[in-house]
Amino acid sequence: MTVCVGLDVGTTGVKAIAISPEGDVLARAEHGYPLSTPRPGWAEQDPEDWWQAAQAALAQVSAGREVAGVGLSGQMHGLVALDAAGEVIRPAILWNDQRTADECAEIEERVGRERLIELTGNRALTGFTAPKLLWLRRNEPEAYARTRRVMLPKDYVRLRLTGEWATDVADASGTLLLDVGGRRWSPEVLEALDLAAELLPPLLESPEPAGVCDSLLQGTPVAVGAGDQPAAALGVGIDRPGPLSVVLGTSGVVLAALPAYRHDAEARVHAFCHAVPGAWQAMGVMLSAAGSLQWFHDSLAPDVPFATLVEEADAWPPGAEGLLFAPYLAGERTPHADPDARGAFVGLALRHDRGALVRAVLEGVAFGLRDSLDLIRELGVDASVGRASGGGARGRTWLRVVASILGIPLELTESEDGSALGAALLGGVAGGVFADVHDAVERCVRVQETVEPDAAWQSVYEELLPRYRSLYPLTKGVTT
Ligand code: XUL
Repeated sequence: MTVCVGLDVGTTGVKAIAISPEGDVLARAEHGYPLSTPRPGWAEQDPEDWWQAAQAALAQVSAGREVAGVGLSGQMHGLVALDAAGEVIRPAILWNDQRTADECAEIEERVGRERLIELTGNRALTGFTAPKLLWLRRNEPEAYARTRRVMLPKDYVRLRLTGEWATDVADASGTLLLDVGGRRWSPEVLEALDLAAELLPPLLESPEPAGVCDSLLQGTPVAVGAGDQPAAALGVGIDRPGPLSVVLGTSGVVLAALPAYRHDAEARVHAFCHAVPGAWQAMGVMLSAAGSLQWFHDSLAPDVPFATLVEEADAWPPGAEGLLFAPYLAGERTPHADPDARGAFVGLALRHDRGALVRAVLEGVAFGLRDSLDLIRELGVDASVGRASGGGARGRTWLRVVASILGIPLELTESEDGSALGAALLGGVAGGVFADVHDAVERCVRVQETVEPDAAWQSVYEELLPRYRSLYPLTKGVTT
């Protein structure tokens, strides 16, 4: 049977899926890899690990199947630098790395913050790619001098798969070097930062083919693909304005497809190209969403299954008797744009047990998503329903908390594969299985269930919202 394959190069591992032209997931493979934090606030990975994992996952899902097309998605913003011989120069610096505060200040000074927002739709944020390049130039000048080609994580995997160096406008939006409204590299930003345009790959729209596989799956067309967030939005069927994508992955995201290019005047949410040709999206990104629960589990209850932790949380009422959690474990992007923000539990009492702490984590993350939702609404977006995906969206308790704090129903689609499914749809367009992304979404994405907000919880949470919002300024005064 003909299948479309999607490959997501994530932060914890690669995930590959094979889908039928009707969107049924026929095979799934995941291969993990480590993340290294050589210094506080740093986050790096070896691109070779992505490639090894990608090969293994691709081989598994394609065995015995006729693959019409492959699509890629991946963690956004990461800096991969190659030398003239095509060798990786140093470990990739990832989206959640926080080393570039000085370079962000330098960028906003060189370009001017307002002009930068006019040109790119975004502010200089530590996770983005351009500040990483400036960091390399300042701190590892020899490595920078050897750099001939720069790319994003999934683009490195595609380079190995097809030999083609390219990127898509959706992923390129997170570099801070793209004229997002014009869907081209920004000559003005490149000049102001003294960066050579030759360092950057050619730009394509997400479903366009960027080469064919040259050994594994030889001859199969490969869509250039998209960053994981626009791909996840496609994977839950957001190909035009309507429902929002709500992602509970390591990072947490609220994303709206826009009717036309639009950005927040202060760039409090990101304005990026969508994985749909000629379309844009706005999104708020929190750095530790399911990552907060993962942290809690790994450091405080490593032997306890996640489901047990969430069951314990379910035994507590909304608000967990005054216990609040600030989810800024890795600094925060939306809404604070602050790499030095830190997490906190506030309001602990003798009665609080592990379940109460977990309840506070689930709620703190949901309040963080609410911050993004409210900013997206300020752009004039009608946000009346969301579509949830990501590892954290598997359990109903957390979804009920999120739906109640956002105050909107959350739809769940048949496939939980989010970004990998979006990538497979793009691969299917490149391989001629679907006419375009709209056709792909129509044929493959089906809503299966809706999680409604709980009216009683919602009113408790509305009262708690200002208290949650006071946590950041409060903890900021204590932790820095
Ligand atoms: C999006 C972002 C994260 C990463 C990792 O802007 O930084 O969602 O793509 O998943």
